Parts: sequence; structure tokens; C-alpha cells
Amino acid sequence: MDKLNAIVLAAGRGTRMLSSCPKVLHSLLDRPILSYPLQTLSELKVKRRLVVVGEDEVGDQVVEALAYESGLEWPRQASPRGTADAVAAALPLLAAERGTVLIVCGDVPLLRPETLKAFYLQHQIKQAKLSVLTAVLDKGGSYGRVMLDGRGRPEAIIEARDASPEQLACTRINSGTYLVDLDLLRRALAATDCRNAQGEYYLTDMVAFARSRDEATAIFDIDDVREILGINTRADLVALEKIMARRLVDVWLARGVTIHLPETVRSGSLVRIGPDTEIDAGVTMFGRTEIGKNCRIGVGAWIQDCCLADQVEIKPYSVLEQARIDHGSAIGPFARLRPGTEIGPDAKIGNFVETKKARFGRGAKASHLAYIGDAEVGDESNLGAGTITCNYDGFKKFRTEIGCRVFIGSDSQLVAPVKIGDDALIGAGSTVTREVSANALVTTRVRQKELAGRGMAQRRKALTED
Ligand code: UD1
Ligand code: CA
Repeated sequence: MDKLNAIVLAAGRGTRMLSSCPKVLHSLLDRPILSYPLQTLSELKVKRRLVVVGEDEVGDQVVEALAYESGLEWPRQASPRGTADAVAAALPLLAAERGTVLIVCGDVPLLRPETLKAFYLQHQIKQAKLSVLTAVLDKGGSYGRVMLDGRGRPEAIIEARDASPEQLACTRINSGTYLVDLDLLRRALAATDCRNAQGEYYLTDMVAFARSRDEATAIFDIDDVREILGINTRADLVALEKIMARRLVDVWLARGVTIHLPETVRSGSLVRIGPDTEIDAGVTMFGRTEIGKNCRIGVGAWIQDCCLADQVEIKPYSVLEQARIDHGSAIGPFARLRPGTEIGPDAKIGNFVETKKARFGRGAKASHLAYIGDAEVGDESNLGAGTITCNYDGFKKFRTEIGCRVFIGSDSQLVAPVKIGDDALIGAGSTVTREVSANALVTTRVRQKELAGRGMAQRRKALTED
């Protein structure tokens, strides 16, 4: 579809969200609502993508939030005076273009590329100058009603608020998605007025205009009516999020991934999962997350922008962000892997262990209760319960470097910057402040003192003092 230009309408106020955040920037799973139609258009490889936003700071916010997406153009609508006015704001940028333009709404995230392809194909076959993507619903609700002539071609779209009771009874509705010849569009927009119930410039008026000029119009009824649902309220948002989440989870079920209680699992659209991986209930996988083959992801895990190799086990309720985990490693339950964590193969990070900018070598372990930040842990080293890298002096961060096969006894603090050589042993309860050479044994705790028989005497003294 590389000859097609596309206009996305996203300058509406979105007042029904009752939000200080622009409607199209609300999150649907892990991405803003507007990013979904934009992604669909990029998958279709349309020629240009013009996104109409407001001229105010709300528009600025939208442009800024999608700055990561390249190749977008941002026409500005001075004030939201209706969908025709919004499209008109984009037209100057298309002055040198000819042919067909695709118009979609920024608040309709479920439309699939295959649907738009079929819509475009049919538009070409019918040699139409204007096609409307339509749906037949049980109840037309607040959607515009599509009026057909005796030969099944649209002759007008009547907004629900302007419709007579007979027109309202029509169940074929306008999805707000159109394919239209640019020249016809220019002429139609020049002729629209705002004499209607909402006092707005309606884009939908171009249908009656086209018919009055004897231009060929067509409709395309969509198979799955859920695709055209738009978001106007928070209830719409969560309802559509549920549909999208299930759609994405079904992809993985079909590709050899078991997902238990799929209705409780959320996977963003950029996630990749290998076959024979098993995902338990209540798991969230967001961002650019890649999960290998034969992995197990336990109940309630949160995984964002992570890369997991094959045969990795994430036990329940672990939270992982921007971490890489090599094959055969086990994480959790209740582990927290913060950005910059890299876990080598066959390693183990146990319960209540927090890591940040930390690299663990092959077979390295921190099995319980530890904070390992700005650190390097060599192959086969074992960090006991309560090991803490003291990486921060209140002003700056410092690194801890632990060699291979090192054993750190429980409840030890490693005050960074500090290096511990290969094969060193650190006794339990040590506070290590200086470099430890390879193969050394270090203890720093106070020697134990015992005063024989003084237990009772001490108690008596305490009681008489009361
Ligand atoms: C519109 C259609 C209706 C259709 C419905 C499908 C019109 C007149 N009506 O109604 O027939 O059934 O979509 O969802 O077109 N927008 C702007 N600037 C504006 C006004 C709107 O950019 O001045 C954008 C909105 O951000 C939104 C889209 O256009 O993305 C649709 O606007 P909205 O107000 O939601 O139209 P509906 O009343 O839903
Ligand atoms: Ca709408």
C-alpha cells in the first residue's frame, strides 16, 4: 500500500476520559492508544503518515510522547471544530499528492492491517472514489448511521444526534475509517458547513457530497465488529484492553506456548516467546521482552524489556526490568531484577534478592535476601543471605568486583569500591572495606566473648532495678 497516504485524526479533546492526560496517550497494555493505529499503518507500509493533533500544549504532549516513532508528520488543528476540519488541517501537507488517502481515527486501536488491506483491495475492485468501512451492530448506539441506496451504495451518513427515529433504527454504522480520492476530498471539505446538532464540521458529509456529484461510493462491512470499537471513556479503554490482551495471548497459544488462565495474562505487542514455554496466571510481559524456549514464568511475575534465553525459570511474583538472563538460570520467587542486571547461565537468584547494574557469571548464586548493585560476580561464586553491596556513599555510586568461586558468608557488607579476588572466603558478618586478595580468608567481626555463669546474675540485677 505504498501509494497510499494516511491521515490519523487525534485532535479531539477526549473530555469523556475526565483526564489531564490526552486521550490518545492513555496506555493500552504497554503503549499509548495512538501507537496502535500508527503501528498498523507502518505494517501496511503506507507512503506518508499524517497525524492531526491540536495546536495547543495537548498537541505538543502527543507529538513529544510519540517522538520515538520515526517518519510521522504532525499537522495541527487550531481548535477541535469537527472531523472535517481536522482532515482539512492535514490537506496543505498533501498539496502535491494525488490518488487515494486513508483516514483513520487515533482512538480506534484494534483495527488490524489485514482488515485495512481487504478494505483497500475492495475499494480498488469497485473503482470507488469513496469507501466507508462499516459494521453491522445489534444496536447502532452513538455511531453515525450509513444510509444505502437501492443498489447497496452509501448515499449519506447521519450522525446519531441528527438522526430521525427511522434512521436511528438502521444498524449499519460508520467506523470512521475511509478511503477517499484526494481531489474529491478537497472539493467535499470545501463544501461542508456546520449546520447540525453539534455545530461541527462533519467529515461524514463527504458521502452525500460525493453522491451529489455522481462519484462512485462503496461500503465494506467488517467481519469482526470489535475491530472498529473506539475509546471515548475509561470503561471503553479497559474493555478494549481486554480484547487486545486476549488477541495477543491467543497468538502465543497458537505458536506452542502454554498460557494458563489466559484472561489474566498481559503481553504487549512487541513481546516474543519461544515454543514450549509455560506461563502461569497473572503474568505481565511488557515492552521489548524476549523469552526463549522451554522457559517457565511463575504466577504474578512482571517482566519488562527483558531478554530471557532458553530454559529460564522465573518463579512467582518476581519483578524484572531491563535484565538479561542466560539459559538454565532460576530467578525468584519474589526477586527484583532492576535495569542493567545480567545473569549468566545456570545461575540462581533467590527470594528477596535485589540486583541493579549487576553481572553474575556462570553458576553464580545469591539465594536469599541480598542487595547487589553496581557489581560484578564471577563464575560459581556464592553470596550468602544478607549480603549487601554498599554502593552509595550518599553522593556517588561505586563498584564491587567479586572474582570467581568466591564465598561470601551471610550478613556481610561489601563497602564499595572494593575488589575480592578469586577463591576468597569472607566469614559471616564481615564488613569488607579493603581489597581482598585471591584465596584469602577474611573475617572482620568482633571476637565472641563468654562470661561463664553470668546469665542468672544479669537477670537478677535487671529485676531488682525495676
Ligand atoms: C465519528 C463519526 C461517526 C462514526 C464515529 C466512529 C463524524 C462526524 N462522525 O463520530 O459517524 O460513527 O466517528 O467512531 O465524523 N477529531 C479531531 N478533531 C476534531 C474532532 C475529532 O481530530 O475536531 C478526532 C478525534 O480525536 C477522534 C476522531 O476524530 O480520533 C473522531 O472524533 P469523535 O469526536 O470521537 O467522533 P465521533 O463522535 O465518535
Ligand atoms: Ca469517537
